[in-house]
Amino acid sequence: MGTNLIEIENIKKELASDLKKSSSLEGIDMLKTKYLGKQGKINILFKTLPIKTDPKLGKKINDLKDLIQTKLSEQLTTILTSDNKMSFDVSIPGTPMPRGSLHLISQAIEEIENIFVSLGFVRRRYPEVDTDWYYAEGLNIPKGHPARDDQETFYLDDNIVLTAHTSNGQLHEMELKKTPPIKMINIGKTYRRQIDTTHTPMFHQFEGLVIDKDINITHLLGVTEYFAKSYFGQDRHTRLRPHHFQFTEPSFEIDITCGVCSGSGMVEKTPCKVCKSGWLELGGAGMVHPNVIKNGGFNPEECSGFAFGWGVERVLMMKTGIPDIRLIYSDDIRFLNQF
Ligand code: DAH
Repeated sequence: MGTNLIEIENIKKELASDLKKSSSLEGIDMLKTKYLGKQGKINILFKTLPIKTDPKLGKKINDLKDLIQTKLSEQLTTILTSDNKMSFDVSIPGTPMPRGSLHLISQAIEEIENIFVSLGFVRRRYPEVDTDWYYAEGLNIPKGHPARDDQETFYLDDNIVLTAHTSNGQLHEMELKKTPPIKMINIGKTYRRQIDTTHTPMFHQFEGLVIDKDINITHLLGVTEYFAKSYFGQDRHTRLRPHHFQFTEPSFEIDITCGVCSGSGMVEKTPCKVCKSGWLELGGAGMVHPNVIKNGGFNPEECSGFAFGWGVERVLMMKTGIPDIRLIYSDDIRFLNQF
């Protein structure tokens, strides 16, 4: 046998002994590099042996390459399918997996939803990116109206907005239902150009809408009072304060008694630091404006309704005493773990 063939035979022998020693995936990987890699034995043979003058030699090297590939993949299959069960000690305690939980905003949304569902409301999710009609025009806020000025809206173009409130859901719900009665709670994300201790560019609102024959303010009062007691505690009360919104007439701000001073405004003869007056503002509400009822395709002569839109983060902060809204979105696991 010529020296060239001896060299090939030696590689075969070396491979056989290497294979015996390698029983892991990493081992097979290393052999692949050693024999078939760029600087591997096969390439070295192609470069160093006189394959140009001896074509048979080229074929022999290719055969060797095939052999190596076959042997390596056989060994790989053996490793992957071998019965390793005996080496697994079932008595060793496992590594505990960290347990996740719902984010506190998701928990608050769930709680709010359950309160309204128990009153017969249906949970809805209406668009958070919407057209100007649903967001403003159809809610009795015409183009150029000054009420648009204090909405810190993100406009994507002249017609599309990131909704700054969930009130757009009112028109969607009327369109969907076509006739009264309506009892819906639309909970979703809202967006405003703002950031400080009580405002973030993205936050959540829950929007209630009730429309039926003969709905009046006492129905709004009843629902408001029920929500306040269920969410904050049985000792809390609410009140209406006159306000203005384009989509309701009359319109109100709803206040709720402060949990720290129980509505008295005083704590041990000094003014309450949390509320100063005994009351905390919950959010806007009112009787749905006839124009909105009309825009939703209903007849305001035949039905009436009330609506409200309150902030999820706001009620959560009022309930828990979280002092800065940005903490809620800080993803600081030490903060989140407290809830
Ligand atoms: N959309 C108002 C806001 O974001 C809140 C609001 C006020 C909603 C009165 C209503 C309502 O449904 O009737 O400031």
